[in-house]
Amino acid sequence: ELPFAESWKIKMIEPIHRSTREQREQWLKEAHYNVFQLRADQVYIDLLTDSGTGAMSDRQWSELMLGDESYAGATSFYKFQAMVRKIFGFEYVIPTHQGRAAENVLFSYLVKEGNVIPGNAHFDTTKGHIESRHAFAVDVTIDEAKNTQLELPFKGNVSLEKLEKVLVENKGNVPFMVLTVTNNTVGGQPVSMQNIKDTCRLCHKYNVPVVVDSARFAENAYFIKTREAGYADKTIKEIVREMYAEADAATMSCKKDAIVNMGGFIATNNKQWYDGAMQFCIPFEGYITYGGLNGRDLNAIAQGLDENTEFDMLNTRIHQVAHLAAKLDEYGIPYQRPAGGHAIFVDGDKVLDRVPKEEFPAQRLTCELYLEAGIRACEIGYILADRDPVTHQNRFGGLDLVRLCIPRRVYTDNHMDVVAAAMKNVYDRREEVNHGVAIEWEAPLMRHFTVRLKML
Ligand code: F0G
Repeated sequence: ELPFAESWKIKMIEPIHRSTREQREQWLKEAHYNVFQLRADQVYIDLLTDSGTGAMSDRQWSELMLGDESYAGATSFYKFQAMVRKIFGFEYVIPTHQGRAAENVLFSYLVKEGNVIPGNAHFDTTKGHIESRHAFAVDVTIDEAKNTQLELPFKGNVSLEKLEKVLVENKGNVPFMVLTVTNNTVGGQPVSMQNIKDTCRLCHKYNVPVVVDSARFAENAYFIKTREAGYADKTIKEIVREMYAEADAATMSCKKDAIVNMGGFIATNNKQWYDGAMQFCIPFEGYITYGGLNGRDLNAIAQGLDENTEFDMLNTRIHQVAHLAAKLDEYGIPYQRPAGGHAIFVDGDKVLDRVPKEEFPAQRLTCELYLEAGIRACEIGYILADRDPVTHQNRFGGLDLVRLCIPRRVYTDNHMDVVAAAMKNVYDRREEVNHGVAIEWEAPLMRHFTVRLKML
């Protein structure tokens, strides 16, 4: 058999630049040890996020030329709507400028002060949109997800037991549940079809609708196809339709699995929700047939949704993530196992085990990796977890991870080898790192984006 290779070839390239350690020390200091504050040209390999950083295909670039920029009723909207209907099976579609905007529009209609909204590890903006409305986001992910060394095929799953407890204890006060596929926060870990169905059925038993946070829905479908019994012979598109068959709505960040630089949407079969959310779309995002996007962007989303729900495209992608994981295995570096869909989440407090949790080990590791080779990763750990809204204490209950997040169709496996080698160099001198970082200034919500730190 022939070896594996990408299902595409490269038509356009963008130069990237190396730097010296001395330069990086200066730049990181100026950035207050927060890599979000770095300029992108101070970065060699940028693994901050897979969001909006993918490379569009020639078909998507072609679609840009066909964009209809009419204010209302543009053909681009209808093309986009038809594709969302086809892929997800939802009738009503509201475009928004990105995923958090979809959350903002829908939650403005659905979330009231004091509500409780369970979910399998809400993403930070989702949590932010709940907590800023003085409601509560309760995590109901399976406990096994917290053990990074445990190999489970569907580590992003919902604990039905935890979910039922929340539904029982908060009867009448749960406007919906958020099901995130794949589960980004615990490592891009997928949710099984069985768990999706069980979750929907349990919620519906208590008359609670399910909103699927769909940023990486196609990667989730890939894992269902390759890991769950009974799905090997189904197409990704068939699996996606089945994933959404019992759900009530989707919020989507098209910046991930639709492989565009900007975009999002809300989709549902619930006319009442559509009518309610629509009213918030107009002041926040714009008229309901463009929702903060250009007509050409809607075209590119439609094309991206179509091509990224094909097996070969996803297989190429997941293969690269697995390649990086295999390198880290070779070097003995601990990460959330098994490798996820969009990223490798290195276990920060296992690597820098001399750094106390109060000094944010994963953030320190993020800084060390940048200083080592100009690689920008992202802390998904104790800083990102924010403070408890009631006690104002740091939340140390979750994982402290460094996310090596891989943009779609952008870097080669050679870049992944550089990343792994740089991580190995840091790992080899981990005994010398006894201290982490301290917070000098932080915002009350979503502090990781703007936090100012000092090295200890
Ligand atoms: N939901 C999930 C699961 C996400 O991962 C994100 C964004 C959003 C919602 C919000 O979408 O960025 O378009 O507003 N995640 C990015 C990340 C930022 O780096 O993981 P957005």
